[in-house]
Amino acid sequence: MKVFVPFRLDTLNQCLWRRRDTGPEERILLRPKTFLVLAYLVEHAGRLVTHDELLDAVWSDSVVEPQAVKRHVLAVRSALGDRPKHSLFVETVATRGYRFIAPVSERSALERPTTISDRLSQDLVGRGGVLKMLLETWQRVSNGERQIIFITGEPGIGKTALAEEFQRRVAFDGQSIRIAHGQCIEGYGSKEAYGPVLDALGQLCRGPQVEPLVDILSAEAPTWLAQLPGLLARGRREMLQREISGVARERMVRELGDALESITAETALLLFLEDLHWVDDSTVDLISALARRRTPAKLMLLATYRALDPPRHSLKALVSDLLVRRWCRKIDLTPLSQADVEEYLDAQLPTSSPPPGLSALVHSHSEGNPLFMVAALEDMAKRNLVTRANGQWQLQAPLEQIIFEVPDDLRHMIEAQLERLSEQEQSALELASIAGASFSASVIGSASDIDSSRVETLYEALSRRHHIVKWVCTDSLPDGTLTERYAFVHVLYRQVLYDRQTPGRRARLHRRIGERLAAIYAQRMEDVVPELAYHIEQGADRSRAIDYLRQAAEIVGCKECCGCGSIKPGCI
Ligand SMILES: Nc1ncnc2c1ncn2[C@@H]1O[C@H](COP(=O)(O)OP(=O)(O)OP(=O)(O)O)[C@@H](O)[C@H]1O
Ligand SMILES: [Mg+2]
Repeated sequence: MKVFVPFRLDTLNQCLWRRRDTGPEERILLRPKTFLVLAYLVEHAGRLVTHDELLDAVWSDSVVEPQAVKRHVLAVRSALGDRPKHSLFVETVATRGYRFIAPVSERSALERPTTISDRLSQDLVGRGGVLKMLLETWQRVSNGERQIIFITGEPGIGKTALAEEFQRRVAFDGQSIRIAHGQCIEGYGSKEAYGPVLDALGQLCRGPQVEPLVDILSAEAPTWLAQLPGLLARGRREMLQREISGVARERMVRELGDALESITAETALLLFLEDLHWVDDSTVDLISALARRRTPAKLMLLATYRALDPPRHSLKALVSDLLVRRWCRKIDLTPLSQADVEEYLDAQLPTSSPPPGLSALVHSHSEGNPLFMVAALEDMAKRNLVTRANGQWQLQAPLEQIIFEVPDDLRHMIEAQLERLSEQEQSALELASIAGASFSASVIGSASDIDSSRVETLYEALSRRHHIVKWVCTDSLPDGTLTERYAFVHVLYRQVLYDRQTPGRRARLHRRIGERLAAIYAQRMEDVVPELAYHIEQGADRSRAIDYLRQAAEIVGCKECCGCGSIKPGCI
């Protein structure tokens, strides 16, 4: 599947889709030959495709007059809403042929299945305010004020979706602009210096008006040009590479700073760098230099990152420094509200209102995280709990009976996140998942095989990274000791950590936590009885569990739950 914002070319099913501002994706009907012309141009994006080549590729089995190519290219342009004078997609190369000039990215059909969630994920909600702010900032870019913007937040909060939506809007507001996209790759080994920037420059040089760009790079940034394949003849490239071998980092940074100023003198550039939590130090240096230059440039550097891990990440110091000087902006994305979830559901079926209570359920389950919201709806659709037939929502089971399961792809994503943690961190989190949605560090510490003070430090470090657990409050134990209470950032993390342990180990750990609770709270048993009953029951000690459950039944109902999930069974 090829994607060129806002379109998606499904080569497997031979159809073209377009994302709209609101509502689901729209299918654009093309005649078979027109589709083949578009697919061939997209397949060879960035390079000249001659008339003869198109004739051979699309009409290999028949003889047609050359005008046919023109007619079908016209049809492609009108389907894409492209203008021949200022084309964003198909550029005419006078008398020779055509070039597809928009950035194209590849997506596997698996990444974007045409399922309910695919359609559901098309509509952004709750981001109107930040989009407006971004568009206003873009106006400043058009006036030559360079802008550096970071979008941050937990995994799945919608950083990429927001950046892509913004990119789509600026691409379609009629001005001539350039967009380049660079991706940081999670590196288990060493990271390529300037990897995402080289990625973006390479893309830029496959886009429209390549010649002036190459001229600028050749004159002002030869150290960069030499690293971009396919732009120079082999001999010239090798010569350049010899010349620049061993040049200092500072020179590279300076060269690109100069070149970007020339590139953006006339046409604004949106440089979009994704996933800077995996960025290399050289790119951090470069961002720093670009942000510090005070000379005018129609440049916006828009970058996304999750919580920075480790906390001493070089980018963290840079962002703090730039923020203090007001040389950058940081947008911390917050979870969606229940009203946003309601709006999201509304947009899916404008003809019918979602079942009462559905948005509240999805919101509380996803805690406003859009990725989890989409996954929860996907899960319900897959299990036929919620269906949409004849333009109507239909609930197939009472909402209060719906128990969510973690969809496989989400489970794999969370597993991959956990795999990146140390063995001790994983084991401390697994133990915490036995304790509940929230847990006291010192109770867990005393039930752990690892040194208890070490366990507490681990939770503190994990919560500072805002990854999987977060700090909730400071509790006092019956003996007066103060302890920190933490909670899983999302219930799905707890579920995956819980499920990955064998039933035998879970039962052992439940019993152990139950025993520690009983010992620590011997003088204030009423505080923990429901929790205790739960652990002893899960630890398969039936007779003691019944005893505690009886006591719990007398206590529950006489206290208001504080919301931190510490003692009521419903919170566990
Ligand atoms: N505001 C929103 N409204 C509706 N759907 C959204 C919104 N934001 C994100 N989504 C959907 O949620 C999913 C996750 O979003 P996205 O990939 O942008 O998250 P992310 O923050 O970039 O995650 P990661 O840190 O893993 O890169 C996508 O399917 C996206 O379409
Ligand atoms: Mg993302």
